[in-house]
Amino acid sequence: MSSSGFNRIMVTAALPYANGPVHLGHLAGAYLPADLFSRFQRMKGEDVVFVCGSDEMGVAIMVRARNEGINPQDLVDRYHPMIVDAFAGFGMSFDHYGRTTSPVHAETSQDFFRTLARKDVFALKTEEQLYDPEAGIFLADRFVIGTCPTCGNDNAYGDQCEKCGSTLSPKELINPRSTLSDATPELKETTHFYLPLGDFQGRLDQWIGTHSEWKPNVLGQVRSWLNDGLRDRAITRDVPWGVPVPTDVAQELGIDATGKVIYVWFDAPIGYISDTKEWAIKKGDPEAWRPYWQAEDTRLVHFIGKDNIVFHCLMFPAMLMAHGGYTLPENVPANEFLNIEGDKLSTSRNWAVWLHEFLEDFEPDLLRYALATTLPETKDADFNWTEFQTRVNSELADVLGNFVNRTLTFAARFADGKVPALVNPSAADTAALDELATFPDRIGSAYDAYRNREAVFETMALARLGNKYFNDTEPWHTRKSDPQACANTIHVSLQICAALAVLMEPVLPFSAAKLRTMLNLSGVRSSLPDGDQGSIAWQDAGTSLLVDGLELGEPGILFTKIDDDVIEAQKAKLGAPEGEPAEESAPFEPLKELIQYDDFAKLDLRMGTIIAAEELPKSKKLVRTEVDLGFETRQILAGIKEHFAPEDLIGKRVAVVANLAPRKMMGLESQGMILMAEDREGALFLMQSDGENGSVIR
Ligand code: MF3
Ligand code: ZN
Repeated sequence: MSSSGFNRIMVTAALPYANGPVHLGHLAGAYLPADLFSRFQRMKGEDVVFVCGSDEMGVAIMVRARNEGINPQDLVDRYHPMIVDAFAGFGMSFDHYGRTTSPVHAETSQDFFRTLARKDVFALKTEEQLYDPEAGIFLADRFVIGTCPTCGNDNAYGDQCEKCGSTLSPKELINPRSTLSDATPELKETTHFYLPLGDFQGRLDQWIGTHSEWKPNVLGQVRSWLNDGLRDRAITRDVPWGVPVPTDVAQELGIDATGKVIYVWFDAPIGYISDTKEWAIKKGDPEAWRPYWQAEDTRLVHFIGKDNIVFHCLMFPAMLMAHGGYTLPENVPANEFLNIEGDKLSTSRNWAVWLHEFLEDFEPDLLRYALATTLPETKDADFNWTEFQTRVNSELADVLGNFVNRTLTFAARFADGKVPALVNPSAADTAALDELATFPDRIGSAYDAYRNREAVFETMALARLGNKYFNDTEPWHTRKSDPQACANTIHVSLQICAALAVLMEPVLPFSAAKLRTMLNLSGVRSSLPDGDQGSIAWQDAGTSLLVDGLELGEPGILFTKIDDDVIEAQKAKLGAPEGEPAEESAPFEPLKELIQYDDFAKLDLRMGTIIAAEELPKSKKLVRTEVDLGFETRQILAGIKEHFAPEDLIGKRVAVVANLAPRKMMGLESQGMILMAEDREGALFLMQSDGENGSVIR
């Protein structure tokens, strides 16, 4: 057993929603800290499993898919691979990255649910909720709009009025209407499972009390929830996307589970366990996941952003307690938020730096380093491009890169490209080596205590020590006056470079590998899962790693400086519409010739709702729709088979050309045309509006 009493470490990073790409806010909150921690612990020789995966269930995914007019499955199939690629490019060292649409996850989360249900943990409540009779679903949260009871805003959502900010519940809306079909919702009874968090208050309180070492920002939030008193939380939903509620156990309790799914915040954290199971299956030992979750000598650490604190510190632990046989987290080192150029990050305004775009322009290590120095560990922090440039140019290039470069150049020119022996070391030589010996602990204890900024600062302090030592011993003078002193400087400087090549690995893994090649340093334990088990571990970096006479590799440049115009171009991208014209993208279609108002006025454009849609089996393109124009219903054929699934069109509000002469296609009459926007990639978008069916568009 290690000194801390743990024998293995289970690391999780919050599962990102697969409804968009990953940006710097995500990295700063959970992913970079989790990766730094995991890489460091592996190099120390700890038994680490680090998992993550895409969060693919839940209403957030559904809403986004509906907005884009596609199936939730198609949406997550688009973003999951993008997220996987971006994480790989950034150097995330997951042992496994899964997804919550996997069969293993469905089984794991349903088993968990079943166990709790059979242990009689859940409460059941029957209530009337808003139901859309046309679309056939219950209207949770954002699926219903209506008049705000506080300020009279006609377009308040079921969970919030964006005008006056009040929090609402769907039933409070005046004149509610469904955003799916515009139908007036009915009240319909439904029964849901609730997790009675209040029953766990005492145990949670007591357990949190044993963790006074947790970060103050985390404890602050947790204590305030506990002080308010924990309330029951519904953990099922009546929506068509999610892990189905297991029918067997529902039946046992006399409940019809048809159409019910498990609430996303119940299934997602169980995703960590599913991911670990998939890791175990992948390595051919399906039971290997158990000790990582169930043994008491496992150190379980959840890396998350501050918006996830209540779920990881109270709800998931309560679930684990209720289930029994699981270990609770040793720590939940949540980070605060990252702002960009002094402004709150916003994906809708594209005030964000997207990881996949960053990686097109820069090496991943530059971002890992710059971000690690500005992590929002104790309070919100700011990422700005000028500071990024300074970190790269004056720290990575001028301090670390320069030290490595001058050492290797001197070794090549004045030591025959080999490690010279240290003979009769001076006081300065010995002092430098003594100080070097303290760095594995200085850096390591900071990583171990989740103080990443400090760890990275200490890493750079080692390079600064190298530069200072090099300057103080003046090898360019001793080269002629005292060649052995010069050789000693090269020897000691090379040992500092070798220590750096180990100790910079968590934050700068790609550059550390380059440096090891330049030094011809082998046998270093890998920071990657299932990597080289090398004999040189973290702690050994305090000793002299390079043997006398070792032939060095080719010196090279570790970091290149970034020019001002490159930084200006990055700043200009902020706030610009997403997917800004890259050089390769198609040009906008040229404008048509001018028309007079009378030409336009001949068009009769109306709002309508698609009430039926089906593919025409014999046609490659055509979909047959029926559109309700208020005063009559039209059959309209549209060439959109490749763009929309018919079931996703039903309930959609559309703009229609209502006085277009009818046309026959495939033997059917098309009585109008549905208007759509086509972007330069050829993607189609419906023209949505709130006006009632039959409204004239002018
Ligand atoms: N998808 C959630 C978010 O982005 C995080 C889920 S973390 C997990 O906020 F514990 F649920 F997995
Ligand atoms: Zn309001």
